[in-house]
Amino acid sequence: MLILGIETSCDETSAAVVEDGRRILSNVVSSQVAQHAQFGGVVPEIASRQHLLNLSPVVQQALEDAGRSVDDVEAVAVTNGPGLIGALLAGVSFAKAFAFARGIPLVGVDHIEGHIRACYLEGGEVPHPALALVVSGGHTNLFLLEAESAYRLLGKTRDDAAGEAYDKLAKRLGLGYPGGPILDRLAQRGDASRHRFSLPHFSDGAKLDFSFSGLKTQVLRLIEHEGIEPLADGDDPFAREDLRDLAASFQSAVVRALRRSMDRALRMFEAKAVLLTGGVAANSALRANFRALGEERGLPVFYPTIALSTDNAAMIAAAGHLALLRGETAGPDLTADTELRLGETGPRRSRRHR
Ligand code: KG4
Ligand code: ZN
Repeated sequence: MLILGIETSCDETSAAVVEDGRRILSNVVSSQVAQHAQFGGVVPEIASRQHLLNLSPVVQQALEDAGRSVDDVEAVAVTNGPGLIGALLAGVSFAKAFAFARGIPLVGVDHIEGHIRACYLEGGEVPHPALALVVSGGHTNLFLLEAESAYRLLGKTRDDAAGEAYDKLAKRLGLGYPGGPILDRLAQRGDASRHRFSLPHFSDGAKLDFSFSGLKTQVLRLIEHEGIEPLADGDDPFAREDLRDLAASFQSAVVRALRRSMDRALRMFEAKAVLLTGGVAANSALRANFRALGEERGLPVFYPTIALSTDNAAMIAAAGHLALLRGETAGPDLTADTELRLGETGPRRSRRHR
């Protein structure tokens, strides 16, 4: 089945054509970084407007790259949450119009399920049960997958997401937006033992949760205490040893925090595989750390290529295929739902549309 995937939950407009949820025929990502960079972060209103402008050409490009026409598309999968409400609505409205004009099924996809499905797009078969860590700009979630489609949320961040911590530190240091890639590159040339940041402890025993606000406070205090100046316009960040060492020490704390929860989960649950995904999964130190984890424990570790780690529509098409196999299709009442919570039980559990 040929699925057109559409993703507009944040600042990337993306469309992809994926066959049978597995084979990527095209995956076009139009980044809005340039529009948001001057503001040091994503401006929701600008994001919505850019999506409206970009959607049609990006979808056309995806079809062209795939060598397929509009008539070949058999279903449309669109991210309908969580994310920025206006940004999501742009994609959902476009997808609805496309699907109903063509008379083909439409399915709403949880963005987080999309990130997880990115791990199934390349490489071999993922054995279950599996533990999945989704680390992005908006989320830091640890899931147990008893089987495909059986998501149980084990832990999540109580404050900032891991990517958000990167972005905030980069902003403070005058390194621009997004912060992850530049801090990652600086960290590779820094001394991680220069500063030692401590990890949080939760008094309520929720050992699989995350928190990055304490780390942020420690880093900000250090910046003030040591008088670390933000980068001046036009200066080369790599020439600044203080920034390189700070980036490396910060990154080491983030990686330790993520690994600590995964190690704990591996002790608590039987898992045959580990999945690492989301924008922060593009991080070189995190990938290396999880590769080492796999080798130490003799477990297969799946993480997508960089292009599939950050937001893209191929992962949405893949998740849409799985959702269609589960029998989910959306009607004309499909709308954006910023409160979608994959794998949570209780009153806020994933509200899926029929
Ligand atoms: O998944 P994603 O593209 O969008 C969301 O769903 O949020 O993730 C974007 C986040 C940003 O916070 C960005 O700074 C971070 O991923 N990121 C990285 C790296 N590349 C992107 N963080 C650390 N190291 C990287 N190499
Ligand atoms: Zn994402």
